[in-house]
Amino acid sequence: MSRILILGGTGNTGRLIAQHLLAQSKADITIAARHLDKAQAFADRLNQQYSSHRAQAIHVDASQNDSLRLAFTDQTMVVVAAPTTAYADGVIRTALEVGVDYLDVQLCAQKLAVLQSSTDEIERAGRCFITEAGFHPGLPSALVRYAAANLDTIESAVTLGYLNMGKHLPYTEAVDEVVENFREYNGQVFKSGQWTKPNSYEVRTCDFGGDIGRKRCCAMFFEELRPLPHMFPSLRETGFYISEIHWILDRVIMPITWAWLKVAPNAVRPVGKFLWWGMGTFHKRPYRVELQVQAAGIRDGRPVTVQATVAHPDGYELTAIPVVAALLQYLDSSARRPGLWMMGHLVDSPRLMKDMEKMGIAFTTRIQAGET
Ligand SMILES: NC(=O)c1ccc[n+]([C@@H]2O[C@H](COP(=O)([O-])OP(=O)(O)OC[C@H]3O[C@@H](n4cnc5c(N)ncnc54)[C@H](OP(=O)(O)O)[C@@H]3O)[C@@H](O)[C@H]2O)c1
Repeated sequence: MSRILILGGTGNTGRLIAQHLLAQSKADITIAARHLDKAQAFADRLNQQYSSHRAQAIHVDASQNDSLRLAFTDQTMVVVAAPTTAYADGVIRTALEVGVDYLDVQLCAQKLAVLQSSTDEIERAGRCFITEAGFHPGLPSALVRYAAANLDTIESAVTLGYLNMGKHLPYTEAVDEVVENFREYNGQVFKSGQWTKPNSYEVRTCDFGGDIGRKRCCAMFFEELRPLPHMFPSLRETGFYISEIHWILDRVIMPITWAWLKVAPNAVRPVGKFLWWGMGTFHKRPYRVELQVQAAGIRDGRPVTVQATVAHPDGYELTAIPVVAALLQYLDSSARRPGLWMMGHLVDSPRLMKDMEKMGIAFTTRIQAGET
């Protein structure tokens, strides 16, 4: 029986991963967090809800390697769903020492560097390490691969993101991590067969269709995009663009956020609170989180376009559900391969989309004759 420990199992993302995992698989789960009382109460609720004894709780503090070692022992996999990138080195090293598989949902250059420097060790140990799982990062490359699976030759594949839950969300340490990532902002896209410069700033108007319509979008680079032109040598254009939501957010809050971080790079918490207040205050319908790939290429000798969309009203669901859909492929061994993988590169994308739909994601695909 597989045992999966969710580090941060009482958090916004971790709670949903736990629920979907219990509903979709036979795995036992361990809810791990610093506050054992909360973790135990949540595990008890899950056992009641699923009439089982499959959920347990354990105290763990990611800043303490002894605590990590104790928690990881006897687990099959550790799912990192906590804002603990500051301790990534300890978490990764302990997973390797104890001999467990690993998956994280974090976006952090330093974490990725630690993982990449451990690639040989991960392979030698026969461990399966999956990184950058979730919505973004996670789905942009999975969607490009989904589009490619529907084409004989893929020529362009741009992914668009729309993030608008239309409400105040609680401020957690995870927002600090979002703001820390802003300091490493990279707007690279792959255009006319080559990557633009890392400090380039690409803005374009993209048509989402439906009730979102045309939006001004800003490029945002994810490491998972980098190997795509190598995976698909016919690809001439790819990238990720995030949509504007409200003009005050776009033209006032964001520029202040950037300027503030530039003059005071350590003011992460106040900058984060300001940004979170802006996002919770200035919004307008439609409310949901959506990712869309717009691809073009050749199928059966004819030019076609592929548009695939995943959406959910709750962004945490859109983070947790792809993780659990990927874990289903890990649990049945089809995606349990030794090495370091990005989620979007490892999974069977068409199956991922199907399983996500079963778990409540709105998924649509449109394939049309078109210009390339
Ligand atoms: N890939 C994506 O699409 C995506 C989307 C959203 C979020 N994320 C990432 O997901 C992660 C979690 O985000 P979230 O919003 O779900 O966070 P959150 O709600 O703040 O979750 C916090 C959880 O982590 C635990 N925790 C915090 N510090 C800990 C520590 N030092 N040791 C052990 N447990 C600790 C908390 O419990 P205690 O306080 O009891 O310790 C709680 O269970 C973040 O890294 C975020 O950037 C990724």
